[in-house]
This record gives sequence, structure tokens and C-alpha cells, in this order.
Amino acid sequence: MENTNSDAFVFFGATGDLAYKKIFPALQSMIRHNQFDIPIIGLSRAGWSLDYFKDWIRKSLEEDGGVDPDAFSKLTANLQCINGDYQSDATYEELCRALGAAKRPLYYLAIPPSMFGPVAQGLARLGCAAGARLVVEKPFGRDLASAQELDRVLHQSFPESSIFRIDHYLGKEAVQNLLYFRFANSFLEPIWNRNYISSVQITMAEAFGVGGRGRFYEDVGAIRDVVQNHLLQVVSLLAMDAPVGRGIDIQRDENLRLLRSVRPLDPSEVVRGQFLGYRDEKDVPKDSQVETFAALRLHIDNARWAGVPFYIRTGKCLPVTTTEVFVKLKPPHTVFDVMEPHQSNYFRFRLSPDVFISLGARVKLPGAKMVGEEEELFVQRKAADEMTPYERLFGDAIRGDAALFTRYDCVEEAWRVIDPVLGHATPVIEYEQDTWGPAEADRLIESHGRWHNPKQDGGTT
Ligand SMILES: NC(=O)c1ccc[n+]([C@@H]2O[C@H](COP(=O)([O-])OP(=O)(O)OC[C@H]3O[C@@H](n4cnc5c(N)ncnc54)[C@H](OP(=O)(O)O)[C@@H]3O)[C@@H](O)[C@H]2O)c1
Repeated sequence: MENTNSDAFVFFGATGDLAYKKIFPALQSMIRHNQFDIPIIGLSRAGWSLDYFKDWIRKSLEEDGGVDPDAFSKLTANLQCINGDYQSDATYEELCRALGAAKRPLYYLAIPPSMFGPVAQGLARLGCAAGARLVVEKPFGRDLASAQELDRVLHQSFPESSIFRIDHYLGKEAVQNLLYFRFANSFLEPIWNRNYISSVQITMAEAFGVGGRGRFYEDVGAIRDVVQNHLLQVVSLLAMDAPVGRGIDIQRDENLRLLRSVRPLDPSEVVRGQFLGYRDEKDVPKDSQVETFAALRLHIDNARWAGVPFYIRTGKCLPVTTTEVFVKLKPPHTVFDVMEPHQSNYFRFRLSPDVFISLGARVKLPGAKMVGEEEELFVQRKAADEMTPYERLFGDAIRGDAALFTRYDCVEEAWRVIDPVLGHATPVIEYEQDTWGPAEADRLIESHGRWHNPKQDGGTT
């Protein structure tokens, strides 16, 4: 059988934050596990020499957990760097020369999204697009209209089957775990619907701020940065029907079907917040209206979920760094005096930093009285991912397996849901750092109880 694996890894934005924090560590780890042995070509406009570039990679690996001398020397032996402007044909001419006999290069665009189109066009203009794969980072567009335009531009140069849209969330073991748990067990499916579930909460909390990346954040904000992509993906995996097979597009078809049934957000069901001190960050205007926190209520208008609200909350400078799903079941009809108002059985899925699945249940206390307490039964508890999402996704992209990448129609549906609340559709409310955001977020959920605030140690309050 013909080997269709990519035979060169070319990445644009080699001097960037993402390259430093994620890409080099992922490449070193893949090399260490004998999963990567193709030439690497890094492009940038910075004018760095190859030696300077190698030193910078070494620093990135040192900060990430260490340099493996053997893997590092293989990585750097395979490395070339090209300096040039992405608007200039000379850059692509040099790239074509550097690619040599490579027939199926993989182009990875770790650059600002505004440059995706010009780079794709440059590659096609100089004849470097044929047979190649194009991997683009999120976000794919800034809203529905710009996503449609970007899609149009990329498709002038690359067919859909060659475009890989990364949402590294889909490469996380914990997220794949969610899907497996739902569909590899028989006890869940009968209750996984509006008859038994009263509400779903998803919290993605970060205890840190924007880390000096005010310029980037000003252009994005919490809703674009994580709700449109990561958190809607989690909603989709929680709520979609079982895929009917294992082909690349079968799961993505279910993903699309689910997103199509999500009602566009209503501004009255969205709370935007901004942590106090954000406007003092470098490159952030003193009157910035960009949200660093968002809480929202989603509705899924299908037979399984009608009437079950999905509450999503994300923010920076919150008390912990963790992502957790809390699925609340309807209370039982019982003669025992067991449930406080709004208390009920639940499932909890911790997606990061550690991974667990637990079930909250009432159990009887020893003794003559029929009274009990709440206990958590852990179905699974384990350390964080062994393989980073980038390792998994690069491996898949090199093999041409697009299952864990976002298909364009799904991206478009996600923007359709988010579009009505982008920009300043709702006011931004300030909140103290190290709190769970503005009080308005608590009011949003009041009719279904309260937010469950995950704790760093794995507990919840
Ligand atoms: N950083 C993260 O944690 C993260 C996470 C998920 C997704 N992403 C996405 O990954 C991509 C890269 O992110 P990043 O944080 O690495 O970005 P970045 O550090 O701001 O930029 C990456 C590189 O792009 C080049 N660049 C910047 N502006 C450019 C322009 N106008 N024209 C051409 N090149 C330009 C710069 O390299 P030279 O000046 O050397 O050319 C820069 O080093 C973005 O699409 C971002 O949304 C980032």
C-alpha cells in the first residue's frame, strides 16, 4: 500500500509563543517515542540564525520539563530555518528549494489567523500546495462571516480533505475519555436525556490572567477564545447521539447534527465579566470592553435535550485552574427525607488538570434512622494525559487522519450559535480576582440551583 504520510513538517510562526510552549516539546516527545522522523522547516520573519534558533528550542524544552539529548540532537539535525516575509514570493521559492524531493509536506500555521489566507495563497502560487496538508490553529475566523470568507480563501488552494483545523481540546485524552465512557457503557444511555437530567454545567477556570499577551487577548476575549471552540466541543461530546461507526467523518457528522440543534445564544442569557486589573495589562486600553469571563445558558432543541439547560462558564483569574463538567440528575420521588432543595445525584467529569469520572449518590448512614449523606463514587481516577494533545494531533495529521480535527461545517455551526453575543452585545461587568466572577453569573443559574465550584484538590463546593 502506498505510504501517504507527510514527508516534511513545515511550520510558520516558529518564533511564536505556541511554538515555544507546545510545539517543540511535542516534537521532542514524538521523536523520543520514534513517532517522528521527517525534516522540520521553521519559518519566521525574525531573521534568526540556525544556531540561535536551536538555542531557543533548547530553552523551550528546558522550561517544559527537560532536554532529552538524543531526541534533541535528532530534532536539530533535521531542522532548517527560513527567514522571510509571508507576503513575498521569494519566501516560498526558498521553501520549495528547502523541501527538495518532499511530495507531501505538512504546513502547520502557528501564526495570527489573519495570515492563514495569505500563506495558503502564497503556497499555492508558488506550486507548493499540491499533495500537501495544511494545519491551521484556532480560531478559525472571528465570527460567522469571517469564517466563511477564510474557508473560501483556503479552499481556493487546498481541498477540504487536506485542511486540518486544530482544536487541541479534541486531542485530549480526557475529552476522548468522555466519549468512550458515554458510548462504551450500557447504564448511561437510558438516563442520558431530558427525562433524567435536569441541567449540565461546564466550567473551564484559569487561576491566571493573560500572561502579558494583552494584545492577543484584546482581539479575542473569552467567548471567541474558548467558548466557540473548546467548550462547544465538550457540549457536543456530552450531548450528541452515538456515532454509527468509526469512520473519520461519522463522529463529525454526529457533532454537526448536535450543533445544528443548538439555539443561537440570546444576549439576555450571557454574562460577560472582566477581572479588576485587566486594563492595567500591557497593550490593553484603559476602557477595554473585552471579556475575561463569560457565563452563558445554551439550549439544545432536540428530542433528547429540549428543556435541559447547558450552563457554560469560563474565566481568567478565578480561584483554580481546572475544567470540569457537572451533570445534574433530576431528584428521585422518595419517602426518605434526603434531598436539600436543588441537591441531586450527579456525574462529575474532571477534564483537567487531573482526570476523573465520579458519581454523586446518597447512601444511608449506619444506625436505626433512615438518614444518609452524599458520597462520591469514583468510576475512574488518573493522572493527567501521558501523550499531549499536540503529539496526538500532529501524529494524526502526518498520517492524514482528520477524525480529531474540526470539519468546516462544524466550525460554521459553532459561529452561528455564538455570533449574536459577540462584540458588545452585553455589558462587561468587573469582578475581583480570585473569585468566581460577577454575581450576575450566579443569578443566571438560579432557576437550576447554583454553580458547582471545582476545587484544585478534586473536590467541589
Ligand atoms: N499561544 C497559545 O497558547 C495558543 C493556543 C492555541 C492556539 N493558538 C493559536 O496559534 C497561533 C499562533 O499563536 P501564538 O501565540 O504563537 O502567536 P504569536 O506568538 O503572537 O505569533 C506567532 C508568530 O507569528 C509571527 N507573526 C506575528 N504577526 C505576524 C504577522 N502580522 N505576519 C506574519 N507573521 C506574524 C511571529 O513570528 P515572526 O515575527 O518571527 O515572523 C510570531 O512569532 C494563533 O493562531 C493562535 O490563535 C495559540
